[in-house]
Amino acid sequence: MRIAVSSDHAAVAERLHLVAALQAAGHEVDDLGGPEGVAVDYPEPAAAVAHAVAEGRADRGVLLCGTGIGVCIAANKVHGIRAATVHDEFTAEMARRHNNANVVCLGARLLAAAAITRIVERFLDTDFDGGRHATRVDKIMALEAPERAADA
Ligand code: RB5
Repeated sequence: MRIAVSSDHAAVAERLHLVAALQAAGHEVDDLGGPEGVAVDYPEPAAAVAHAVAEGRADRGVLLCGTGIGVCIAANKVHGIRAATVHDEFTAEMARRHNNANVVCLGARLLAAAAITRIVERFLDTDFDGGRHATRVDKIMALEAPERAADA
């Protein structure tokens, strides 16, 4: 799977750990993040990953910041993105099964690097359930429609 990954300064070590683990598992990883010790405003990495997914350059996105909240709010501003902040394997699985999330967001100040890797693996390994959940996700995406019309 092609995976775009990034983080702000609060999660560089955890991001590098995750990138190595995903590469070892055979994924094609595009690490869009910066180096340790350089402050980055979280909307910037969020936008880079969100656009990579929305434009089809990545199948899924992973975003890390201190809490997983700021990057999630920012990523969800990009049309086509369904980003979810998750805290464990259960919320990662449900974000895929019920919400068809295409970007997962995690907090490096809440979770250890090994836990982040396990949670992201669950996210990547889980399919969307479809059915009644597809109707609901379609209603989410329809909320973008007036803005799409205005953009045209
Ligand atoms: C950076 O200090 C912190 O605000 C950021 O990583 C994130 O937690 C924001 O939601």
